[in-house]
Amino acid sequence: MSGALPGGAGSRLVGADADGDDQAVEAALRPKDLGEFVGQERVREQLDLVLKAARQRGGTADHVLLSGAPGLGKTTLSMIIAAEMGAPIRITSGPAIQHAGDLAAILSSLAEGEVLFLDEIHRMSRPAEEMLYMAMEDFRVDVIVGKGPGATAIPLELPPFTLVGATTRAGLLPPPLRDRFGFTGHMEFYAPAELERVIHRSARLLEVTIEPEGAAEIAGRSRGTPRIANRLLRRVRDYAQVKADGVITREIAGSALAVYDVDGRGLDRLDRAVLSALLKLFGGGPVGLSTLAVAVGEERETVEEVAEPFLVREGLLARTPRGRIGTPAAWEHLGLTPPQRGTGGGQSGLFEA
Ligand SMILES: Nc1ncnc2c1ncn2[C@@H]1O[C@H](COP(=O)(O)OP(=O)(O)OP(=O)(O)O)[C@@H](O)[C@H]1O
Ligand SMILES: [Mg+2]
Repeated sequence: MSGALPGGAGSRLVGADADGDDQAVEAALRPKDLGEFVGQERVREQLDLVLKAARQRGGTADHVLLSGAPGLGKTTLSMIIAAEMGAPIRITSGPAIQHAGDLAAILSSLAEGEVLFLDEIHRMSRPAEEMLYMAMEDFRVDVIVGKGPGATAIPLELPPFTLVGATTRAGLLPPPLRDRFGFTGHMEFYAPAELERVIHRSARLLEVTIEPEGAAEIAGRSRGTPRIANRLLRRVRDYAQVKADGVITREIAGSALAVYDVDGRGLDRLDRAVLSALLKLFGGGPVGLSTLAVAVGEERETVEEVAEPFLVREGLLARTPRGRIGTPAAWEHLGLTPPQRGTGGGQSGLFEA
């Protein structure tokens, strides 16, 4: 990472991936049942039916696929599924399963009704994936014994179990795998009011006093993501404790997040550097990604993968075949006036296209 942004994008406060600090506290902040799980009304309601029906039948719930961006609650929901079914949960991930044999070992040691949580399921190896197809459908695996022409497949019966797969990239799942899930829940970004509820709940658990306006201030900067909301809450709590009487008001939240360089819309220094270069140096574009990256002293990949997705989602930046463009909302957000352009070219023409 270049020197322009010390610490690099990996440790950014508004990043949606879990950092070490998050992992330590997340267990304590995770809702334990569906009733405590905030938002995601559709997924929650549908899942509630799936689980209730399975309980009534006294059977095992259908396999569940959870897809959605990092930090929206996939791992949390998988634990809730196990808790609601009164079943134990085994946690593993696609990248941890190198060989089909690794998967066979896990599957054959499952207890009846156990929940197997397979995180990052899109990153599993092909042979393991194929073994999983049969395990999901027929609760059976073929264990291959020996090598070469003398190898034999020994069928092994599995107890019924519930597979909960999680993925940030549902599009990367092969259709045969996707089709074997009885229920797919797509997690959406959270509305500010939902994030306020997440923040109030976490504040209670962390024993922090927070005013409604303080929670609203943090929610508005959390990029629709509970993990970020919880992280910002912890940083604001530190500030309130050191600089004030510990109570989180709107003013305290605003000043704290200004110290941490998170603006009113949840943009950090990198995001604003990209926008500001786009608008101030290139008149709002279109400008090529490489040029933009050089202008902010970052790698292309950093600009494209770290900064741009949220800017695009917020409608501040658009990717066009001719290059990156700052939208009218971007000019407004940075408090700048777009240059006047004549007809027959320039940016206005592009917006009409
Ligand atoms: N609906 C929710 N209500 C309350 N808290 C939530 C909710 N969803 C997530 N959280 C909080 O956000 C944190 C991150 O959630 P979780 O680890 O489940 O996300 P994830 O989707 O598994 O992310 P990743 O893709 O990085 O694995 C959890 O510690 C939890 O406290
Ligand atoms: Mg997770």
